[in-house]
Amino acid sequence: MNILLTGGAGYIGSHTALALMSEGHTVVVIDNFCNSQPDVILRLQRISGKSVPIVKGDVRDTDVVCRTLQQYSIDAVIHFAGLKAVGESVVKPIDYYANNVQGTISLLQGMDSCGVKTLVFSSSATVYGNPQYVPIDENHPTSVTNPYGRSKLHIEEVLADVARSDSSWRIVCLRYFNPVGAHESGLIGEDPCGIPNNLMPYLAQVAIGKLPCLHVFGNDYPTPDGTGIRDYIHVMDLAEGHSAALDFLKHQKGWHAINLGTGRGTSVLEMVRAFEAASGKNVAYQITQRRPGDIAMCFAMADKAAEQLQWYAKRNLADMCASTWRWQIQSES
Ligand code: NAD
Ligand code: WQD
Repeated sequence: MNILLTGGAGYIGSHTALALMSEGHTVVVIDNFCNSQPDVILRLQRISGKSVPIVKGDVRDTDVVCRTLQQYSIDAVIHFAGLKAVGESVVKPIDYYANNVQGTISLLQGMDSCGVKTLVFSSSATVYGNPQYVPIDENHPTSVTNPYGRSKLHIEEVLADVARSDSSWRIVCLRYFNPVGAHESGLIGEDPCGIPNNLMPYLAQVAIGKLPCLHVFGNDYPTPDGTGIRDYIHVMDLAEGHSAALDFLKHQKGWHAINLGTGRGTSVLEMVRAFEAASGKNVAYQITQRRPGDIAMCFAMADKAAEQLQWYAKRNLADMCASTWRWQIQSES
């Protein structure tokens, strides 16, 4: 199929592009590069040996969306484009709703006018809020506590209304847990601007000496070692989940929500130890106060993806840490 990846130059989009091309799909990227570099596309071409047409543009420009859908005879869209920083969303809610919600509506208008009605949406486990139970299945109540999470939930609800209004739409919202890791080549990976907010890139920068020490945000949570537990999933497993989702939509209409997680929880200190083992480096850390808004535990019930997508995460914590380390070393060279 010809697949348009909005935000395809970003962390998850670029890895998904490789997974799709390895499955024989043709991939086109539209990206405004507000949080990525254009040279990522050159690296995708170097890794895959295939050309990746790139449209520099904003999904909020519906005319550009329409022209791209028509020019490349797009069969399906994977919608990665959006802003994703929880803390930033609290400070800049208008930017988050304009980019994430308005951007999605513009994309939908373009798709509808061009008759392209197959969509995979990048949702987030953030829509579950503070879990009432773990592992979290797709029937868990949704509850959002910040503009970023609210933008994701709003988009899911818009997509559900679109599917109810026109039975020809095929939509799956993939609720990602905590994507980490990098492609085995070490040529692409998570490339946050400035000081990383997320644990894994911060860990990697401490290990390589760019940052002095990891601050462990609290060790007084009701967890075995007191530190926060999350469901870390290798970004290549996540990428392959998107290919499985497109196959699922070939024979499924309507709106669907599916978790993409490993079903296993890992604590901060477990991740520190795994990263030290993978990198051979010591990771200095100190326990500090809890980060406001953090939850104790969050990990997926991954059965629905296994049953409906015939997909499950195959890579383990060591793979996640080793691939992150390879990428960190390469991006420093
Ligand atoms: P990213 O920032 O690396 O990639 C997003 C890409 O979209 C970037 O290349 C950016 O330039 C582009 N973009 C942003 N707004 C755009 C717009 N209006 N028009 C065109 N391009 C635009 O983020 P990521 O980690 O790859 O996440 C991709 C998607 O997955 C996001 O929607 C994010 O909310 C979601 N998600 C990410 C995580 C995570 O931890 N990384 C977890 C759950 C969900
Ligand atoms: C993981 C664990 C921290 C940094 C976020 C977004 C979520 C989604 C995924 C978009 C927690 C601890 C972290 C540090 C630490 N993104 N930590 N020191 O918060 O689970 O999820 O990314 O959809 O929306 O909220 O990920 O990597 O920030 O934190 O101790 O310097 O590591 O307390 O327990 P999080 P994270």
